[in-house]
Amino acid sequence: MTLRAIHRTSAMLITAFACLHIANHLASLAGVPAHIAFMDVARKLYRQPAVELLLLSCVAFQIGSGLWFVMRGWKSREGTVAWLQAVSGALIALFLLIHVVAVIYGRTVLKLDTNFYYAAAGFHVPPNQYFFAPYYFLAVLALFTHLGCAAYWQLETASSKMRTAALALPMLAGATVALLIVLSLAGKLRPVDIPAKYKATYATTTIATLNHLR
Ligand code: HEM
Repeated sequence: MTLRAIHRTSAMLITAFACLHIANHLASLAGVPAHIAFMDVARKLYRQPAVELLLLSCVAFQIGSGLWFVMRGWKSREGTVAWLQAVSGALIALFLLIHVVAVIYGRTVLKLDTNFYYAAAGFHVPPNQYFFAPYYFLAVLALFTHLGCAAYWQLETASSKMRTAALALPMLAGATVALLIVLSLAGKLRPVDIPAKYKATYATTTIATLNHLR
């Protein structure tokens, strides 16, 4: 099996998890309790030690192999789709690196339940929203774009109209889903009340709270 074939297989597992995970975040459109109820069920699957170990191993492998592909083809890459694939792949790799470390840190060091509030807290402690809005938006858009690029290359013998649609439609869907999730985390679709312990993970809030208590 070539490195590219393993990259593809590992991508399938991560994509299956990402579909469940993104559906989980879309559930928050119906309110935070709906998101948490969905997560309670989904965690029964992905928090099984064997499943989590496999998922996190695939994530580590995907980051390494993805960045390797981006660097290896840097000089020979030609055409918009090839560049879109490389840039979206690099963005996913960087996002996953930060994201998974942040989730593990939240669970093990901060001892927090890494649910909706953990992801949303940054949006509610200015100026962190300026980091988190593009961070989550681009991550979801990059994932859909990367999958669209894969569909584009798969349809080698199809008409150019069909191939363009195979890339453009996932990108459009990705931008819509990403926008809905970001608006929901930011509390723009329905009011969100972030518990103080989540907001306190941001140093400035901790200092403000301490000053307030003095
Ligand atoms: C707006 C987008 C996203 C948000 C708000 C978000 C938020 C979260 C949160 C809160 C957790 C902790 C879950 C738990 O404790 O059960 C988590 C875990 C995780 N996320 Fe995301 N995520 C997003 C997008 C993504 C994407 C696009 C991917 C993959 C391409 C991804 C991969 C992961 C992985 C691998 C974990 C660790 C799962 C585990 O073992 O517990 N996330 N994310």
